[in-house]
Amino acid sequence: MTSLTDSPDRYGLVSRLFHWGMAALFALQFASAAAHWALPRENTLRDALWSYHADLGVTLLLLVLLRGAWGLWNLRNRPTETGLMGYAAKAGHAGLYALMVIVPALKIIGSAGGTRGFSYLGLQVFPAQDAAIAWTKTISDWHGTLGWILAAVVLGHIGAAIVWHQLVKRDGVLKRIA
Ligand code: HEM
Ligand code: HEM
Repeated sequence: MTSLTDSPDRYGLVSRLFHWGMAALFALQFASAAAHWALPRENTLRDALWSYHADLGVTLLLLVLLRGAWGLWNLRNRPTETGLMGYAAKAGHAGLYALMVIVPALKIIGSAGGTRGFSYLGLQVFPAQDAAIAWTKTISDWHGTLGWILAAVVLGHIGAAIVWHQLVKRDGVLKRIA
C-alpha cells in the first residue's frame, strides 16, 4: 500500500508529490527566466512566459517551506546513503533547499524596498516606497545569478540521479522517489 509518510526504502506519497510537482513548476520558472534572458523585448512568447514569473516564484517559495517542514518531520525515516556519495547527496540536497529559499527571497526583499510595490496573485503585499532602499536593491541584484546557479545545481542533481544512480550503479535510487 502507498504510504503518505517516508520510510527508509521509499519516499512517501506526500514527498513524491512535492518533488515532481515542484520539478514541473521549476521547469516553467526556468523557461520564463530563459525567455527573459534570450528573447528580445516586445516579444509575445517572452511576455507570455514572463507574465507568471513573480507569482510562480512566490508560490515555489511557499511550497519549499512546506516541503522542508515535511522533510524535517520525516527526517529519521527518510532513505539515506552511507559513505562519500551519501555525504555528497546530503550536501547536494541541502544546497538545493538553500537556493530554493534564497533565490525568490532576495527578489521579494528587493521588491519590498522598491518604488513599484509588490503584489502576489493580485493582492498587494508591500506598498510602493517613495524612494528605493539601497540595500534591498543591492541584494536583489544577486537574484538572477543565483537563479542560474540553482539551474546548474538542478542539472547536476538530474545528472547524478540518471547517469550515476540509474545507468552506472543501477542501485534503484530513482525508484524510491518515482
Ligand atoms: C524559485 C523561484 C525563482 C527562480 C528560480 C527565478 C529565476 C530567475 C532567473 C534565473 C532570472 C534571470 C533571468 C535573466 O537572466 O534574464 C530571474 C530574473 C528575475 N526574476 Fe526571478 N526567479 C524566481 C523567483 C522570483 C520572484 C519571487 C520574483 C519577484 C518577486 C522574481 C522576479 C524577477 C525579476 C524582476 C527578474 C529580472 C531582473 C533580474 O534579473 O534580477 N523572481 N529570475
Ligand atoms: C528529471 C528531474 C529530476 C530527477 C530525475 C530527480 C531525481 C531525484 C532522485 C532519484 C532523488 C532521490 C535521491 C535520494 O534518495 O538520495 C531526488 C531527491 C531530491 N530532489 Fe530530485 N530529481 C529531479 C528534479 C528535481 C528538481 C527540479 C529539484 C529542485 C529544484 C529537485 C530536488 C530534490 C531534492 C531536494 C531531493 C531530496 C528529497 C526531498 O527533500 O524531496 N529534484 N531527486
